[in-house]
Amino acid sequence: MVTRPFDVVIVGSGAAGLTAALSLAERFRVAVLAKGGLSEGSTAWAQGGIAAVLEEGDTFESHIEDTMVAGAGLNNRASVEFVIENAPRSIERLVELGVPFNQDGNALHLTREGGHSHRRIVHVNDATGWAVQEALETAAKRHPNITLVPDMAAIDLATSRHGERYLGDGHVWGVYALNRRTGQVETFTGKATILATGGAGRTYLYSTAPRGATGDGIAMAWRAGGRVSNMEMMQFHPTCLWNLDVKNFLITEAMRGEGGRLKLPPGVPGAGHRFMPDFDPREELAPRDIVARAIDHEIKRLGLDYVHLDISHQPPEFVKHHFPTIYAKLLTLGIDITTDPIPVVPAQHYTCGGVIVDLKGRTDLPGLYAAGEVTQSGLHGANRLASNSLLECFVFGEAAAGHITRHWDELPSPPPIRPWDESRVTDSDEEVIVQHNWREIRRFMWDYVGIVRTTKRLERAQHRIKLLRREVEEYYGNFRVTADLIELRNLVEVADLIVRSALARKESRGLHYTLDYPEMLAEARDTILVP
Ligand code: FAD
Ligand code: SIN
Repeated sequence: MVTRPFDVVIVGSGAAGLTAALSLAERFRVAVLAKGGLSEGSTAWAQGGIAAVLEEGDTFESHIEDTMVAGAGLNNRASVEFVIENAPRSIERLVELGVPFNQDGNALHLTREGGHSHRRIVHVNDATGWAVQEALETAAKRHPNITLVPDMAAIDLATSRHGERYLGDGHVWGVYALNRRTGQVETFTGKATILATGGAGRTYLYSTAPRGATGDGIAMAWRAGGRVSNMEMMQFHPTCLWNLDVKNFLITEAMRGEGGRLKLPPGVPGAGHRFMPDFDPREELAPRDIVARAIDHEIKRLGLDYVHLDISHQPPEFVKHHFPTIYAKLLTLGIDITTDPIPVVPAQHYTCGGVIVDLKGRTDLPGLYAAGEVTQSGLHGANRLASNSLLECFVFGEAAAGHITRHWDELPSPPPIRPWDESRVTDSDEEVIVQHNWREIRRFMWDYVGIVRTTKRLERAQHRIKLLRREVEEYYGNFRVTADLIELRNLVEVADLIVRSALARKESRGLHYTLDYPEMLAEARDTILVP
């Protein structure tokens, strides 16, 4: 059993984890774990950009207001103000790290996305996330105090329960993690632990998120005793490419920001009709929940596979200049976006709910912090405003690091932690069941817990989760742990949290829309689940 002591253990090497690591590394020895490659989180996949008030005439108040409107009043205003007021500073720091944001003369070029009343999205063409990930990773690799540990899948938090003697207060001292290269479980210990594990998009069959978005951090915090909140608020991006071979390629919202129009495809009554004006005066730039529901409505009404997103009315050079990545990718699929419309469908995109944190990134559990998509920080409320997510990672990554630094001397040192129970040494000969269960969850979550919900559908999903949980627990209890099994166990946990939260909300608000309670209640309340 390998124990690896550090000052701080960070689980996750995306925008949130690396921001926190760079901020802590001036004083502390930091381990950053990734369950696969370092760049395999959502950060590297981000397209549109990062929102910040930088345009003349734009104000913090306006960005705050847009965020609260998109969030349908469920946001925590203090958190919204905190993030938005810190946005320009975060962008400055990224520029210092060498992120090559697009320029407009001497200023940064700003694009526009749905729900924003100003141009305020800084970007690197249509591949912002890749540039951000590269800059953060380069800086982290150079830092002697940061140890980057890829292929290390955290299984569970090491808490007071895992101390060699009972310590009783639920303190978190690090994680148990599966070294995927050796197959051994290792213990990483630290005075503080930060969860930066991203979202839970892969609970759904169709998602724009990478394969590893299985809600591991949410499930780990929940099992250790941390509260989670607003898990019913799953964001569906309106425009994911519809293609039989390529299942999760996003078409950035910035395309609608630069004039892209949603139309009915050929072969149906009203073919070519631009339908968003029928649903909302903000047309294609209404917040995501509204655009996604409108597309879903048209798809179901007309029995379509997809609708069209069309930017071909813009000059070809403009299209290629703004969307070089999408242009090149779709050309390989036989679609020339300068002349052809793009078939699109809504797909799961972002997990608004998560582990409850305060403005310092503290969770309920002493020693445990969290930042980024794994959290419910109060910023997004019932629906995240476009391009506010990377921003949250930078601001809360810094906030958690700042709190740890300021309170270092008060944090107790980890006690000896019990080694991982190695009694489960049998390899299963039924690995295929893990794959079946995984597919089953994603399918019924898509069918029953999607864009439009009913109590009956949610109860159906809950029934299936109960059966699956029994199967997965038996499997987990008897066989040697594998990376797939770790993820499956977490998917079941997170699916359960989503369904329980959805059943608890007796109204429709933001991303949660149920035919049984179509109205919004007067008072906005978080759905808080207590372990
Ligand atoms: P991630 O970047 O997802 O990183 C998670 C990390 O945790 C990874 O390193 C992963 O390996 C690690 N991890 C997870 N589980 C474990 C485990 N058990 N053990 C060890 N490590 C683990 N937001 C915007 O603001 N602007 C955009 O333009 C934008 N575009 C997007 C486009 C796409 C296609 C997608 C999917 C999302 C987009 N988002 C965008 C959302 C945004 O990218 C994410 O919310 C954000 O990057 C999350 O960052 P993070 O650091 O929280 O997690
Ligand atoms: C996009 O580019 O449409 C994604 C932006 C976001 O998720 O914030």
